[in-house]
Amino acid sequence: MSFPKNRMRRLRSSDAMRRLVRQTNININNLVYPLFAREGKKLKEPIKSLTGCFYFSPDAIAKEAREVFSLGIPAVLLFGLPEKKDAAGSQAWAEDGVIQQAVKEIKSNIPELLVITDICLCEYTDHGHCGVIRDGKVDNDATCELLAKVALSHAQVGADIVAPSDMMDGRVKYIREALEENSFESIAIMSYAAKYASAFYGPFRDAAQSAPAFGDRKTYQMDPANSDQAMAEIALDIEEGADIIIVKPALPYLDVIYRASQRFDCPIAAYNVSGEYMMLNAAADAGLINRQNAMMETLTAIKRAGADILITYFAKDVAKIINS
Ligand code: PBG
Repeated sequence: MSFPKNRMRRLRSSDAMRRLVRQTNININNLVYPLFAREGKKLKEPIKSLTGCFYFSPDAIAKEAREVFSLGIPAVLLFGLPEKKDAAGSQAWAEDGVIQQAVKEIKSNIPELLVITDICLCEYTDHGHCGVIRDGKVDNDATCELLAKVALSHAQVGADIVAPSDMMDGRVKYIREALEENSFESIAIMSYAAKYASAFYGPFRDAAQSAPAFGDRKTYQMDPANSDQAMAEIALDIEEGADIIIVKPALPYLDVIYRASQRFDCPIAAYNVSGEYMMLNAAADAGLINRQNAMMETLTAIKRAGADILITYFAKDVAKIINS
């Protein structure tokens, strides 16, 4: 008779036993909910490509942020859709830009809620690339200077964390320097360090009207085939002053999350992106999978791989389940 026999079965024998030995738990404290701000008045408009998500005008966004906060979610990630786009993306750093207004509204109404702002130009440029174009290509250094301006303008209106998602080389350093020079040393940088050139951003680009008008983002976003490069990108961003790093997308890159979590001491966020979200919604709508179970399983897997923070359009749904 060997006693280890049936050990696994004993450990799975009841709901309480399974909870007792569970190694990975999704915690509301680690969730970030993305929000989209769009110019207008009293606007709450469904986003067609992102079921269950809405565009909010700055005057209407605080109500939503309050709901997020009352669910126990500590942070929102803000994206802005400007009315006017130009070649440089100048609305991204405009004093009264849509994001700047939205940040002020949220911070003045719910000061405890962390506001993370996406730092990129693709939603603001008329060509849809993440930087300024020179001779048909994105000019890396000129773009970094603009990104630092954008980050500073967000800090000035009260953003707690800035999240550069552009993937230009050296942008974390430019941003950190601009923040330091202006006495914003308490602003954290959450950098999209390992951001892949992924097909899973499709619904977001539709929602943010940020698809590139020509070419693609393969010269600045990472090749899905590589993970060593992700480690190098992360190391660089940490060295340049990033406090939290992001791996994006999440589900197809669990190995990258795992490697990063083994190797780096800083908090790791995983972005469960728009395509991952809608793929699951579409399958559930077709009656093929159970939405809630698939959602919890997916997010648990991302955490199990090593993510500390989950950025997800499911955040409110998850919080409601945990709270109930
Ligand atoms: C902007 C940005 C993108 C996403 C977040 N920030 C799109 C892109 O890189 O094309 C995608 C988020 C998602 O798909 O949910 N650069």
